[in-house]
Amino acid sequence: MAALTVLTKSLGYHCAKRSKISTFSQNFPSHNSRFQTLRTLILEPSLSESVKLNRLSDYNSGIVEVNLDRPEAKNAIGKDMLSGLRHAFEAIDRDSSARVVMISSSVPKVFCAGADLKERKKMTAAEVHSFVNYLRSTFSLIEELQIPTIAVIEGAALGGGLEMALSCDLRICGENALLGLPETGLAIIPGAGGTQRLPRLVGKSIAKDIIFTGRRIGGRDAMSMGLVNYCVPAGEAHPKALEIAREINQKGPIAIRMAKRAINEGIEREMVSALDLEEECYEQTLNTKDRLEGLTAFAEKRKPIYTGE
Ligand code: COA
Repeated sequence: MAALTVLTKSLGYHCAKRSKISTFSQNFPSHNSRFQTLRTLILEPSLSESVKLNRLSDYNSGIVEVNLDRPEAKNAIGKDMLSGLRHAFEAIDRDSSARVVMISSSVPKVFCAGADLKERKKMTAAEVHSFVNYLRSTFSLIEELQIPTIAVIEGAALGGGLEMALSCDLRICGENALLGLPETGLAIIPGAGGTQRLPRLVGKSIAKDIIFTGRRIGGRDAMSMGLVNYCVPAGEAHPKALEIAREINQKGPIAIRMAKRAINEGIEREMVSALDLEEECYEQTLNTKDRLEGLTAFAEKRKPIYTGE
């Protein structure tokens, strides 16, 4: 994997930037900010030890990786991890040099086991309500990032883990992946976007099957139902995701942002209005240096060098 360097922006503050995204009213445990230097790797200070935010460098500059690292609980999302996720994605949202995001796990054979069920057992109904609202709004923040997001799934992506992946633009899994929404087996429903994003992705009927039965779906089946974009041999999801991230990273950054906006917002509109949106997004690319660079590079038979201007 490419060398990683520090993401310079501070995570020392947090704010709910988007008014439509609710804030979590409870106090999260906080950790002192700290820098850790490991050869070329410098980890960003985070409020959670379980979420690492790394910016790749050199050839991969512009690719940012959010790494889930809570091995003892299989990356289950509790308050601390949720706080870390929120801060990581808010930092990415503020970072104009970020072009593509990969969400991955450093825990073998698991992407994320969903909500922390041990912590959940100690919560009151009001606390659960608040937690789930904050989880849902954090996944909406992921979905609404202007730049593309890729979930890198090896092993289990269950409950909130799959919901997080569903809030990404692309999903890449290894053949050993197990994806599912087991919430109905716990007498609840997927509450962090799962009941809405899954049917939009795979259709109503398949989504109902997955949610009503809570069954776990293997990587190949996930691929055949359109739940993931790529299914690769076990252990190869990360290199595949990096390959896709690099491809995206070479494109015009404004074009990528506008394409994402046109698709995400347009799909919610009726066609006439959606085509107006497409025109509006196209306009944003017209008076850019990058558009001219694309034409010049074509004429000169070379690769374009885009700056995002
Ligand atoms: N919340 C809290 N702790 C969790 C967890 C979760 N969602 N998922 C796993 N863990 C804990 C286990 O309780 C266990 O802790 P212990 O060592 O104190 O007993 C530890 O992580 C290891 O889990 P284990 O089940 O032994 O690992 P595994 O590799 O055999 O299986 C999973 C991994 C993810 C497939 C399995 O743990 C699982 O199915 N978890 C529940 C997922 C789920 O239902 N999520 C939906 C939430 S709505």
